[in-house]
Order: sequence, then C-alpha cells, then structure tokens
Amino acid sequence: MTKKHLSKGLALCMLIGMLVLESCSKKEDAFANRKVSFNSDWSFHLNDSIIDKDTIGTSTKWSTLNVPHDWSIEGKFDEKSPAGYGGGSLNGGLGWYKKTFKVAAEDSTKVTSITFDGVYKNSEVWVNGHFLGKRPNGYIGFQYDMSKYLNYGDKNNEIIVKVDNSKQPNSRWYSGSGIFRNVWIETTDKLHVTQYGTYVTTPKVTTEKASVNIETTIQNQYAASKKATVITTIFKEDTKVTSVTQNITIAANGNQIIKQQTEVETPILWSVEKPEQYTAVTEISIDDKIVDQYKTNFGIRDFKFDLNKGFILNGKQVKIKGVCLHHDLGPLGAAINTRAIARQLEIMKEMGVNGIRTSHNPPAPELLDLCDKMGFIVMDEAFDMWKQNKTKYDYANDWDKWHKTDLIDQLLRDRNHPSIFVWSIGNEIPEQWNEKGVEIAKELAAITRQYDKTRPLTAAMNPPVNMNIDAVTLQFEKNNVSINPLAGSGVLDLIGYNYAHQTYEHHQKNFPNTPFIATETTSGLQTRGYYDAVSDTIKKWPVRWDLKFTEGNPDNTVSAYDQVQTPWGSTHEATWKVIKKHDFLSGMYIWTGFDYIGEPTPYEWPSVSSYFGVVDLAGFPKDVYYMYQSEWTDKTVLHLFPHWNWKAGQNVDVWAYYNNADEVELFLNGKSVGKRSKKGDDLHVMWRIPFQPGTLKAISRKNGKTVLEKEIKTAGNPASLKLTADRSTIQADGNDLSFVTVDILDKDGTLAPKANNEINFSLKGKGKIVGVCSGDPVSHESFKGSKHTALNGKCLVVIQSGETSGRLELTAKANGLKPSTIVITAE
Ligand code: GAL
Repeated sequence: MTKKHLSKGLALCMLIGMLVLESCSKKEDAFANRKVSFNSDWSFHLNDSIIDKDTIGTSTKWSTLNVPHDWSIEGKFDEKSPAGYGGGSLNGGLGWYKKTFKVAAEDSTKVTSITFDGVYKNSEVWVNGHFLGKRPNGYIGFQYDMSKYLNYGDKNNEIIVKVDNSKQPNSRWYSGSGIFRNVWIETTDKLHVTQYGTYVTTPKVTTEKASVNIETTIQNQYAASKKATVITTIFKEDTKVTSVTQNITIAANGNQIIKQQTEVETPILWSVEKPEQYTAVTEISIDDKIVDQYKTNFGIRDFKFDLNKGFILNGKQVKIKGVCLHHDLGPLGAAINTRAIARQLEIMKEMGVNGIRTSHNPPAPELLDLCDKMGFIVMDEAFDMWKQNKTKYDYANDWDKWHKTDLIDQLLRDRNHPSIFVWSIGNEIPEQWNEKGVEIAKELAAITRQYDKTRPLTAAMNPPVNMNIDAVTLQFEKNNVSINPLAGSGVLDLIGYNYAHQTYEHHQKNFPNTPFIATETTSGLQTRGYYDAVSDTIKKWPVRWDLKFTEGNPDNTVSAYDQVQTPWGSTHEATWKVIKKHDFLSGMYIWTGFDYIGEPTPYEWPSVSSYFGVVDLAGFPKDVYYMYQSEWTDKTVLHLFPHWNWKAGQNVDVWAYYNNADEVELFLNGKSVGKRSKKGDDLHVMWRIPFQPGTLKAISRKNGKTVLEKEIKTAGNPASLKLTADRSTIQADGNDLSFVTVDILDKDGTLAPKANNEINFSLKGKGKIVGVCSGDPVSHESFKGSKHTALNGKCLVVIQSGETSGRLELTAKANGLKPSTIVITAE
C-alpha cells in the first residue's frame, strides 16, 4: 500500500468508526517503519586490488552514490571485454560498497534485518566486522538478521558489501554489476511474520464466493514462549471485507505456521483487463497490543490450461500474447527503476501484449508488482542453466550448493502474485537431452509443488519434438533421441516450446495429455528505421544468414521489414499465424519485447546490443509493433512504411499493417497506385512501386468509408530538433523519470529518416540526465553521457528528478540544427 492509500484508509476509519479499523491510525504509525528504504548514501569503490575487507583503508578512494547501482553501464564498451559481445562488451569487476548508519536505541529490543532484492553477483556482506553471508546468485533476494551485531543509539554501524563479478563470462546476455536492486531495512518485534511469511491461495472461486486460505509463518525470537492472537483482515482497497482470528502459543525461539480460512462474497476477480487485487493484513497481538503487522497483496482468479481450449481465465479463453524480457533497462543498465519498468510495460500494453516471461531468472519484485497492477500473465523463470555450464563462470558452478535455496526463495517471494500463472524451471537447459536432466527436473518439480500447487510448471525446451529442420534434427541425432527426454518425462505440466512453430499444429498428437505453451518464439531481427532488400536490391531478399550470414551488411544493420529471421526462429508473422489459428495453442512469448544489451545476434563486435526487440533499446517501436497492435488490440491501426527517401526510380516495397477495414488504397503524389486487401491469413499488404519524391498516402476503408489515413513525406535535410516528453510532470522524489524523445525534422517538420546528427543535451534545475540512447546496436557512445548520436532521426534522453520541486529545463542542440527546449516540472 502506498502512503496515499493508507491515509485514505485512515479517513475511512474515522468516518465509519468500525471497530477493527479503529486502531488503524495507531497501526499505521506503529508499522510505517517495518520496511524502509536503505538505498541512499552508499560509498562505492571499484578496484580489483582490494581483495579482503580488512585491507580497505581510509586512503581508499570512495565515491558516494545511491543504489540501485550498476557499475558496468558506466564503463566503456570494450572489444576485449571478457564478458564478450554476448555480455554486451561491458566489463564486470570487483566492487565494494559500504554505508554508515545509526539504529535507534529503542530498536535494541527488536529484530533488525537487511534485505537485498538482488546483487549481481557473489555478494558477501559484513556488519561491524561480522560476516553475515554470501549469495552467488545475482537475481534472487536475500535477508540477514543483523540484530546481534548492531550498535544502538548514537554509535555508528558500518555495513560492507563485496560484489564479485570479475570472473567472466558468466552470462549469455548483459547482466550488469553491483547492488542493482533495492535495499531495505526491516525492523520487527521479536514475534513477527517471517520474510515472505504469508501464502494466500483461493482454492475455490465462483462469481458468488471465493474461499481464501492463508498460511502465515510466525517466528518467535523471544527466549520465552508467547501467547498471541493472529488476525488476518482482508481489504478491498480501504474497505474491510472479512477477517479471521486465531489464538496461538508459540515456543521460545520457535517457528509456527498458522492456517486460516475465510471467504470473500461476490469476489471482484483479477483479470488482464481489470487486474483487481485484495490485501490481507496480518496482525499479531500480545495482550491486545499489536506487535507486528504485515501486508500481502493477492488476487482472486480461477484459471487452467486446457488440452483443447488453451488458457482459460475466469471461465473465458484468453490467448497469451506475451513477450520475453531481460532485466536491463536500456541506457539505465541493470539498475532497477520502477518508472523505467512501468514505461516498458506501458509500451508493451499499448502493443497488445498481455504476458511477460521473466527470461531467464527471477525478476525485480517491482516488475511483478507492476504486472499485478497492470494485468500481465507472467511466466516466472528460475534458471538459464542447471549443473552444466553455458558460459565458463556461470551459475552452474554454484548449482550444487545453491539451487535448492534459490528456487525455494523465489517461490516464497513470488507465490502470492496474482499475475504469475506459470513457473518455469529452466530455459534451454543442456541436460534436457538426457536422463540426468529428467532427474534434476523431478527434483525441481518436487520443490516447486511443495511450495505452490496452484500453478503449472514448465521448462523452455528447444524443441520438445523433432522436426524436419536441419539444425533441430541434428540436435536430436546428436543426443540419440527421438523425443526430447524432458518433454517426454511426464514431469512437466505444460510442454514449453522454444521456437519450432512448424510443430505446434501437431502438439495434440505428440503430447495428447499435456497442454501447450510457446515459452519462446520468433527471434526476428531488425534495426529500427532501417530498410533494405527493396526490390531493386533483390539479391538480399529474403535475407538468409543461417549460412554464415554472408549477406549481412557491413555496417551491422538488419532490415526492419519483418523478413529477417534466425535459423531457429521465424518471422513475427509466421509464428503468430499458427498460434492464432488453434484454441489449444494457449499462447506465446516473443523473443523479445525490447532490445537488450548483449547478444547482438547475428553479428558480433562492434555490435553490442540485440536486434530481437519489437521495440528498440531506447523504447522506440519497430514497424512490426504495429502488426501486433493491429492483431492484439481493438485500437484501429493503419501503419505505413518504410520512409519515403529513396533514389529516384528505385523500386520500393511499401507495406501497411491495418485492421478494422476491408481495404487500403495507396496514393503517390495524389495518384492511386492500387487497392490492397489482406487475403487468407495475411497480416500485411504490400505495393512495389518506383520511388518518386513527394507524398505517399494510405487510406483504409470499410464498406467504402474512410477509416484512417496515413501520410509519409520525402524529407529534406535535417533542420531542427523537437523534444517530446512522455511525462512533463514528475515526482520530486529523486527517482522519478521523464523519457524525452528527440526527433530530427526537416524545415517542414517531417522526420528526417536517416538523420544521425550528434545531439548535445544540457539540463537546468534540480535533476539530472541519467541516460541517452538511440537504439543503435552498433553505438559505443556512453549511455551515461550528455551527448549522443541519433539513429534514423531519433534519440532518447532520460531525465531524473532531484528531491526538490521545481522546473527542469532540457535543451537539445546539434550543429547546424535549430535547437529545442522543453520544461519538465518536478513536484
Ligand atoms: C534462445 C534463448 C534466448 C536467446 C535466443 C536468441 O534460444 O533461449 O536466451 O538466446 O535464443 O534467439
């Protein structure tokens, strides 16, 4: 609950004077500090020469910063980086963080813990010289009880965190380095709900009634047994819905799981369109005094994966139209920022996406909170490898010691999220091909089912069945199997397909007893705003680069018609055409929603970021975004491309994505060049016409009436810059962001589609420029500078507020172009 939320609750308590809510004000005040941010004012030092916490001397140079922090994104792209181009050619290293803090004297009788939501990677933590623990996995949260090592009152405490990301490569994509997620201090009574201590399920859901089961783990850290009352109250917004009370006696230094049951009448169900949530508030009282309060958001929904009808949510068939996302936030790197995640999800929603796969690791908790609130069907994934490495220093080296703990913590952390519908125990795990893998899968499945039986589990297999494609057949032959052993093992609740869309229609025959999910599809490749293989350069079209990519471009561009595909993948259209055809195909997760840093397939250096996104690294949609929008939303769409700046007389293929119309007519300089209608399962229409400068205009019509019109004009030379902010008012909280798009225009205001001017930014006011990005996978300019070269007419600059309100005035300048200024208000 937000503060705003709580004060509304307070007002309501006073107004209706309900008994349970009467103590709200006391409750809220008393527990406002249960979990507080511990992000600000850390000291940081990046130096491989310090290897031991005791050698950190006063002479060591420290910089001051706030976390979440990713030091790799601040470095230079490096062709020789041990991370490789897969890791984004950005370096890891060994980083040290420390922070001095005081703890109030009255907290000496309480439990004080520190929680890290994620530190990449191999973190070790000390407080006042005492070792608290080590955590190799960079993507999972962990908590340490610091109570017995703390100084209370006026005396300082010091926490030191060592982060070791020096052994490279350890990832197939850009991981980032450092304390890249939030840090919290949690202070509780010695009798308290444990970390991730509640589990709320709704085993029976009808429109009239939902049963709610609440399991609460309570820990008694007193040296005496305690008698207490546990009340769980369920709220819808600020209104109390129901509550359930239980008296307990809990042994000294003991743990107890309390099981409570209640019902919600006429529940308001969580759905993709209306992601309605409830809150369970757990209160523990000793002698009528509330000693702990803990909140759990949950949703009431009923779902299943059906063999014939696919995914059914609250009785309705819902096709999963999902995307896979890695965790980096483009120019912000891997340091999480809630607004940056929200913006990514908003851009996805606008495209019609209703599902997110957290490839290939547990995401930041904030992503899941946002998915709960915004309505996404999440596949929460645990691992990209098990025992067998994919890169030399990856998590496989920690597997034996840590996989069980990491998986359990993920399940405990995430199992109340209404947005999560599927657990994935792994992505393209090398052991999928043998019996050893099946054994590991059995173990992981048993753990998963022990902690949550309400969701199916899958694994992303490449692919589950053999098919007549060289690379795939080879895989099966190499492993001497005719069916993927993991897929055939019966361990999985859903058969998870990575690619292999050619086999989807045979799924029911191949796996008659297990429903379908396409865990990963497509892997199309595009550079935003770049087009080739137009018809007079037919030699390149369709581009096939599975044969060593000999037809790649010397400047590492990839054409943004939906025509370039990986050998294991498909065009965007090809996979969606199959998925949309059959109900039993529950849905798909496209690789990927956004471009990400690293894995610049099909190229290597100098490319440093991916080409897979439907949206580029800066957040600008590629054309195929509108194909999905025309298919996945009710929004009326007419999208025309490419740009209209070509050589005179050259033949150009013009594509249009449209919906809610039965034809599109194209005009060149006022003259019709023909009407087109989609036939059969077509997802676009096309005209091949000789270029002539001027205006290209498309009109979509239904029953002869105009639905939409779109124009593209030949642009003249770049003449001016235009700034547009996604939000012109942001919060003055030191975190909030405004994403400002720079368009390079000609003298008449038409986007200059090939402009690549270098743009300089300056900001007046209490805020800072925290990211610049053009979406160009080949750019080696820093994302953290104040200048950047545009790609195909566009660039992005990200502004972060300070902690004081006021005007932030951003100016963009480029040689020879009219500058532009925009004001953002922080309040
Ligand atoms: C898949 C893999 C992804 C990514 C993708 C690129 O096989 O699961 O992580 O590497 O290929 O096409």
